[in-house]
Amino acid sequence: MSDKVTAPRLAAFKAEGRPIVCVTAYDVPSARAAEEAEVDLVLVGDSLGNVLLGHRNTLPVSLEDMVVHTRAVASVCRRPLLVADLPFGSYQASVEDAVRSAVALAKAGTEAAKLEGDYPEAVSAIVRAGVPVIAHLGMTPQSVNLFGGFRVQGKGEQGARLLEAALRLQDAGASAIVLELVPAELAGEVTNRLDIPTIGIGAGPLCDGQIQVWHDVLGFTPETFRHVKRYAELGGAAAEALRTYAAEVRARQFPTKENSF
Ligand code: KIV
Repeated sequence: MSDKVTAPRLAAFKAEGRPIVCVTAYDVPSARAAEEAEVDLVLVGDSLGNVLLGHRNTLPVSLEDMVVHTRAVASVCRRPLLVADLPFGSYQASVEDAVRSAVALAKAGTEAAKLEGDYPEAVSAIVRAGVPVIAHLGMTPQSVNLFGGFRVQGKGEQGARLLEAALRLQDAGASAIVLELVPAELAGEVTNRLDIPTIGIGAGPLCDGQIQVWHDVLGFTPETFRHVKRYAELGGAAAEALRTYAAEVRARQFPTKENSF
């Protein structure tokens, strides 16, 4: 499985019925682990605002934050497709902003840019500039204040609008669409109607791929969420290891001769 994943290959994964495995990463250690685990796509998500930088949501994340973390991940990410988020405010005001921001992320090493919402003109322009785009619909966290919280989107009549937006974004040239917190049945319908893959997070098992946030699946986040399965409890393991270190320093058991010069 050493074959490089590229944006154009995502549609082939879908055609082959091969699930696309995606995870976020924000720095060298997380990107190395994702690479070793042979995931297909690594996203430098603006979720770094919540999980790394202590913000309440992703709105304060800047383009400069994304450039720094994209550069770090790009330094070790080889086989997976590297995608980076366009942060809030970096693409909504104009197509020119969108292209400039995507180009900044591409210069930092990303191989595709992800943007939230129904912005087909921005998608076309970024693709025209040479940067593949992943779209993102449903519970788009940059619009959390508009939604009044983190809530499932696309229920009832909203579903038809979400499907129309997905088709528009595909026509505009998006390489894949992330569906976040949408009913599983709607995600299945969107998946069937699109040629490009859907990548779900809280969107059920019928999507072409799945994405999870690093800190959620590895048990670093204090909260648990219905859309997350925790595959480890590394936050607890880290605290436990540091407790042992602290106890050994206090008991003068560390360092020993072996750790000294
Ligand atoms: O920022 C992020 O981590 C994301 C994923 C949740 C899809 O956009």
